[in-house]
Amino acid sequence: MTVTWRSSASEALLDDAATVIPGGVNTCRRRSEPRRCFRRGAGAYLWDLEDRRYIDFHAAYGAVFLGHSHPAVTARVARAIEETVLFGVGVTEAEVALARKLVDHVPCADQVVVCNSGSEATYHAIRLARGATGRERIVKFQGCYNGFHDYVLRNVLSPAELVGGRDPQSKGMLEAAIDATSVCRFNDLDDVEATVARYPDEIAAIILEPIAHNAPGIMPRPGFLAGLRALCDREGIVLVFDEVITGFRHGLGGYQAIAGVTPDLTTLGKAIANGFPLAAVAGRRELMERFTTNEAGDVHFGGTYNGNAVAVEAGLATIELLEDGRVHEHVFALGERMRAGLAEIAARAGIAAYVGGYGSLFVLCFMDGPLERYEDVLRNDTALFLRYRRELVARGVFEMPESLGRSHIGASHTGDDVDRALEVAEVALAAALEAGARAA
Ligand SMILES: Cc1ncc(COP(=O)(O)O)c(C=O)c1O
Repeated sequence: MTVTWRSSASEALLDDAATVIPGGVNTCRRRSEPRRCFRRGAGAYLWDLEDRRYIDFHAAYGAVFLGHSHPAVTARVARAIEETVLFGVGVTEAEVALARKLVDHVPCADQVVVCNSGSEATYHAIRLARGATGRERIVKFQGCYNGFHDYVLRNVLSPAELVGGRDPQSKGMLEAAIDATSVCRFNDLDDVEATVARYPDEIAAIILEPIAHNAPGIMPRPGFLAGLRALCDREGIVLVFDEVITGFRHGLGGYQAIAGVTPDLTTLGKAIANGFPLAAVAGRRELMERFTTNEAGDVHFGGTYNGNAVAVEAGLATIELLEDGRVHEHVFALGERMRAGLAEIAARAGIAAYVGGYGSLFVLCFMDGPLERYEDVLRNDTALFLRYRRELVARGVFEMPESLGRSHIGASHTGDDVDRALEVAEVALAAALEAGARAA
């Protein structure tokens, strides 16, 4: 079957955009091949500029969980903004209602503050940990992404020669900030212990995605999260779970509720507001009260747009729609179906493959399992992965064509969408393998 790779309207728009926006896009990872722009989204689907329909598993990097432009969410936002957008003083009843919901649902949350992006949330959480402990060093994990700021923007998808080494992701980062962040191996408590021993009384925080979904789905080994908890308790280190992906998507209490391990602080974002810009820092009262939102606080917390009505109402509407548990039941079941189906397809194709993911997330990696350490990721056949993703896009299944990108199921996907995606996956994989064989 011949498929259309090109979207000439998308290409023209991106080319035009590049005259006024560097590279034509407003965040670096939106540049992808094949080049696509979308005009419209509804539920599980996107329509490109030629009005071709795609089943969307990109879901704006997982921010869209209930479906594009979910009517209950958009209607609530629209109603609210007739009278409220932003006052910039005091608090609104909606902000208090949202904070109550987060405190009720998230185990570590005695108190909560909201901001606008996951990067802001991790930035504030780390500064709070530093302020509260009087220490500077932090620990992150190879393969985890915790936001774009200098404290954490290192050692994400590192190439083999830089794994665990010094791998900042950008020019312009403060050298001191890079070096104040130690990088440990996910799932390796001994490595974390050794780092803590190397810097006695210097580590303010250990921050991690409790499931390393950016890598692209390394599950914590039994005992890993609890081991970190015990280590942090022993050493007076603030444990931060970055639940920007796992929070709300895996359950209202985040992965901490599922794992039964409660961090000191947690950062939330993405699925919390179904695509609207809402994020949060939540945690233990004695830490949270250090924020200067509190009169006696000494750790700055500010932001002109924090608590704006658009974000807050979207958050409230989203959380209310998740509260009866049916969405999570639905997406977990579809996730299982998708992962099992992909494993069967790979087995029929007779190739090395590992299907990762958890709950509503899935990723087909072209390598033998297991996926337990960042080093495992390096076995993935990146060229095949990208070819496969491009073949999917060309056939109307949108999974981001970028190395090791995870894919997302949401409330509006149906069993038929998953089955259709699996049919397409089988054809796309065959086409990708054939193209690879021709190129060899
Ligand atoms: C685990 C995690 N933390 C933090 C962030 C940063 O969030 P944002 O892009 O909203 O700044 C991301 C974004 O992908 C993420 O995946």
